Amino acid sequence: MFDYERLEALSIEGEAPQSEPERQYYFMKKCRQWAEEEKERIGHPLTMSIQTLGCQMNAKDSEKMTAILEYIGYKEVEEPVADFVLYNTCTVRENANLKIYGRLGYLKNHKKKNPSMRIALCGCMMQEADEVERIRKSYSFVDLVFGTHNIYKLAELLYTQVQSARPVMDVWKEAKEIVEDLPGKRKYPFKTGVNIMYGCNNFCSYCIVPYVRGRERSREPEDIISEIKGLVADGVVEVMLLGQNVNSYGKTLENPVTFANLLRQVNEIEGLKRIRFMTSHPKDLSDELIEAMAECDKVCTHLHLPLQSGSTEILKKMNRKYTKESYLSLVERIREKNPKLSLTTDISLTTDIIVGFPGETEEDFEDTLDVVRKVRYDSAYTFIYSKRTGTPAAAMENQVPEEVVKERFDRLLHEVQGISTEITKSIEGETVPVLVEEINTQNEELLTGRLSNNAVVHFPGDVSLIGEILPVKLVESKGFYYMGEIVK
Ligand code: 5AD
Ligand code: SF4
Repeated sequence: MFDYERLEALSIEGEAPQSEPERQYYFMKKCRQWAEEEKERIGHPLTMSIQTLGCQMNAKDSEKMTAILEYIGYKEVEEPVADFVLYNTCTVRENANLKIYGRLGYLKNHKKKNPSMRIALCGCMMQEADEVERIRKSYSFVDLVFGTHNIYKLAELLYTQVQSARPVMDVWKEAKEIVEDLPGKRKYPFKTGVNIMYGCNNFCSYCIVPYVRGRERSREPEDIISEIKGLVADGVVEVMLLGQNVNSYGKTLENPVTFANLLRQVNEIEGLKRIRFMTSHPKDLSDELIEAMAECDKVCTHLHLPLQSGSTEILKKMNRKYTKESYLSLVERIREKNPKLSLTTDISLTTDIIVGFPGETEEDFEDTLDVVRKVRYDSAYTFIYSKRTGTPAAAMENQVPEEVVKERFDRLLHEVQGISTEITKSIEGETVPVLVEEINTQNEELLTGRLSNNAVVHFPGDVSLIGEILPVKLVESKGFYYMGEIVK
């Protein structure tokens, strides 16, 4: 766990220590010293703006970087422009990259007006050599570029940049070590993500993630448990265990541990109320895990189980290693074993689906619709296939014409939304435990909370209730959320 006293006790007089996390503590303190002087020089407290794109992994990484920058002396602001602007990028789909270049154009003008502004880019897009090259050539006003494997070095990189007054670009092809005991800053005081593993070994043929996040590496269970215990002592009641493929957690450890085993250990932690996890690959979801989910009372009634396609033929081309039938039978086993997880009858299932993978025929697409109708997902993230250079699918023939993809996408969305609305409606009127999360973003008189099954409900209440789990009556279903009231 992060130990503030250990950091404070460290001397920054001599050379930087070689071992981690001491080395980063050293640079955090060095930067802090510099930031004091910088503040005097520019005449106002230093501000930072962190923009996070993409998945939960990036959100978690941004929390870590926020903590480092706060220690240094930056104060977070809502505006997109600040003394330190950091973009934590995503590259899963092409338009995410295009968005970044658009933002850089905008920042360039601001930097002209405020030369002491620093612009930093990190995350998955920076793991792509072509993109880094493009930034080096055409966006020389960017001060810091780093990737997914060295975010823990943020203070060291910033210090190097400050000292040299030149851009610093440091992207590693592979991860070196998992550095524990760095600070973290939570967006919500009562819930947070906890990395249990990094990287992915699956190489789904459309996906860039294994190339940008590297091979699978699991954290030691003791480190995870001790982190969560520390978080609980600090007010956390809900954790989301994070990994690209949590079901293969622990396989590469010296003393292998299964994800089911880890889940049972986390479930034992006193004071913790809710456990979620993301993402599960259907091919690795074991019966042992299904049992563990049913037995662990803190595990939420929600499972995100990406389908990607309902066609066995397409799944094979996607390198997903399951078939339409095996996916459906897995869902059946999950539902059979988890009746106690139900609000009404079933555990809530959500999914990811890609439309328009190369070679997808109308028949293949019908298979996807068929699975959607059979499983009846509570909700689904639907994506139009995006060609990612460097992945095997990008070189496949029979890319599906845009208008065909668009038409299928709309049909899928219609199907998914219809089912989702019916499911939401089916528990209207029930009273369920809700974790109160925040003040409603649209209406300040309402609070917003989450059911165990991950659905959202808005209800009147006082801000002091944030962080508590309370019984809320789901008065009215509104399609994909509820309006409710606290039951006293
Ligand atoms: N095109 C479209 N969607 C993609 N995803 C991953 N790669 C691509 C791609 N090339 C989707 C998958 C994954 C989710 C995080 O993003 O559905 O589960
Ligand atoms: Fe990408 Fe597949 Fe790994 Fe998920 S499991 S990150 S889709 S390669």
